[in-house]
Amino acid sequence: MSDSRPLGIFDSGVGGLTIAREIKKVLPHENIIYYGDSKHLPYGNKSPEVIQQYSKNITQFLVEQNCKAIIIACNTASSNALDEIKSVAEPHQIPVLDVITPVAEKAAYGFHQKMGVIATKATVYSGIYKKSIRQFNRHIKVQELATPLFVPVIEEGLANTEISKAVIENYLSNRKLKDIDSIILGCTHYPLIEKEIVDYYEGKVEVINSPLTVAHALKNILVKNEMCAEGNPTYSFYVSDITKNFQKLAKRFFGREVELKLKPLH
Ligand code: DGL
Repeated sequence: MSDSRPLGIFDSGVGGLTIAREIKKVLPHENIIYYGDSKHLPYGNKSPEVIQQYSKNITQFLVEQNCKAIIIACNTASSNALDEIKSVAEPHQIPVLDVITPVAEKAAYGFHQKMGVIATKATVYSGIYKKSIRQFNRHIKVQELATPLFVPVIEEGLANTEISKAVIENYLSNRKLKDIDSIILGCTHYPLIEKEIVDYYEGKVEVINSPLTVAHALKNILVKNEMCAEGNPTYSFYVSDITKNFQKLAKRFFGREVELKLKPLH
């Protein structure tokens, strides 16, 4: 039996479209409702309390849209508001998938000894990646580094320039990341500079990004719960603020033109 209720995917802005894009590829029949809280972007330098409140409001909206599963396509919300999001969704029997657990699990079994994680300040302050990875494998050393300049660099269209190169060198040469064998890109935006990071390490460090792993984890949940859809999908994209730049960025993150609809919640 097919389940045509939409998937609810959300992020602090349009960056989570990197996750939505991969979900669309792995699950091409699923209807998707995406919510980007562009009015409150960035979450990465906000307090846990504020991130939790915004995340709960968005989850409530997605529950009201009759979503069958909620995907937190934002590392900062996943690391600071998972319990609060579940407290809204789970009473309605709606499963919640965050972007960190599946990646931590996969990374923990990947024969790594010393892993680096780069992410926003709020994600790094939560210590979530270290906790999650070591839950699966307590022998791995994990070093987390906040790299807050990457988001504005990417949003200003400065990836693949001398500026992004300088910022990458500055952050990745930090002594915390010395001798790592792998690095997790712990932020929605970083897939857009993945190649530059791979080049920086000249293939000596494995670069791990989340979208594909998250999309497969979601597929497992849908299959297990007999919740897969069939037929031609529809996609709706809501944001809490619209600017020309969001529109441009959305295209870059999703890989094709998207029509953003304004829907402020709070
Ligand atoms: N979406 C956020 C994340 O993945 C990055 C942007 C922000 O700080 O809101 O952590």
